[in-house]
Amino acid sequence: MRMKICVLGSGYVGLVTGTCFAEMGHEVYCVDIDPKKINLINNATSPIFEPGLDELLKNNIEKGRLKALLAEDFYSKKIQTDISFICVPTPSNEDGSIDLKFIEKASEDLGRYIKSLENYHVVTIKSTVVPGTTGDIARPILEKYSGKKAGQDFGLCMNPEFLREGSAIEDFLNTDKIVIGAIDKKSGDLLEKIYEPWDEKVHRIKTNLRTAEMIKYAQNAFLATKISFINEIANICQRNGVDANEVAYAIGLDRRINPRFLRFGVGYGGSCFPKDVKALIAASEKSGYIPRLLKAAEEVNKQQPIEALKMAGGLNGKTISILGLAFKPNTDDIREAPSIKLIHELKKHDTKIKAYDPQATENMKKILPNITYTDSPLECIKDSDVCFVLTGWKEIKQLEPKDFLNLMKTPIVVDGRRVFDPEKMKQLGFTYKAIGYGLT
Ligand code: UDX
Repeated sequence: MRMKICVLGSGYVGLVTGTCFAEMGHEVYCVDIDPKKINLINNATSPIFEPGLDELLKNNIEKGRLKALLAEDFYSKKIQTDISFICVPTPSNEDGSIDLKFIEKASEDLGRYIKSLENYHVVTIKSTVVPGTTGDIARPILEKYSGKKAGQDFGLCMNPEFLREGSAIEDFLNTDKIVIGAIDKKSGDLLEKIYEPWDEKVHRIKTNLRTAEMIKYAQNAFLATKISFINEIANICQRNGVDANEVAYAIGLDRRINPRFLRFGVGYGGSCFPKDVKALIAASEKSGYIPRLLKAAEEVNKQQPIEALKMAGGLNGKTISILGLAFKPNTDDIREAPSIKLIHELKKHDTKIKAYDPQATENMKKILPNITYTDSPLECIKDSDVCFVLTGWKEIKQLEPKDFLNLMKTPIVVDGRRVFDPEKMKQLGFTYKAIGYGLT
């Protein structure tokens, strides 16, 4: 069944969600307050870097299934839709707790919008929100501004996303599961209809609003903890003459553990794990429980760039090259990237810093304008004393051990993502160190 959908917020999650729903045959309005974004989207140019998104945008705009509209235009035109998705940011407050101002504003706008609707409309929160937000914060605002009652005059759902940057389209279209939290059966059934085009083998988990909210946090907190766990093991391996790569591989073969998310290194970054772990810690403490494990996961993660730094030895007076700035490959996103922490630490010493990243340089220049950015990895490592490898981009993986030997002044390479083979690097006789590599 083709449904009419509006997606509030054309950021990362909103744009991918809207485009993928259009691709599955629905009629989608992407709504945002930024006119620049609206123009770009309508010209089939994604405002963010995400592989495959431009092509999908083009296809759906041409087929008339996707249109971007300024919020004021969308509301004034009184366009009737069946379901709305709130995909606005949920940033952190100073104390790590979740800041819900955008959710509150979106609820107010949607409240006014559904006031004028004649059809039964389901409001769905897709943004990551702590348990209780949809039912206790969004619901009263929606009811106040619409003059209607949730569960009677309109539906209310919480439908978390599980998208990874860089593979968001693939994740959306080939998801493992669809989580539908609903205030009542009618709302949940209507939202489920949107997912009809997905294979029936994909698990549909139908639950209440709070559980859906919690599933998202529990999943991200688990994955972040899994990474911090293997980082801690890697730190121990390194000090005990053990190669953590072999350890991670072997434990990953146990079906109860599984090999994914067992890559150790300078730690997790991005727009989700750091923020979501913090928000869950804050929500947990607010409800009277101190989450010791989550706090430890966060602590280990903060320390990983420092682990890399310690391996380099003396830094004063040295030229440092940084290969990779984005928090992971295939994205231009630098939010909470380990590179930022490492560069700030390096700046405490008398160092000259050169950096290379195939996509993230422009974003990094905005927050760190006073370091040298190069257009190629070779130019970056040239004449440097110490090189830190922080993101596993293919452009960086392609370097040969001899490039470091030939171009660097006094080659010391600290591999923070285990991009290179230690044996091959060490054969050439220069100093190569890697997180989790304890063999000499
Ligand atoms: C994550 C979740 O995977 C996604 O489900 C959620 O909705 C949003 O947050 P994303 O932040 O895009 O997605 O990236 P992801 O690929 O999960 O990586 C997150 C961070 O963990 C990166 O910095 C990555 O380098 C790091 N990581 C990942 C590791 O250090 N080791 C691993 O084994 C996996």
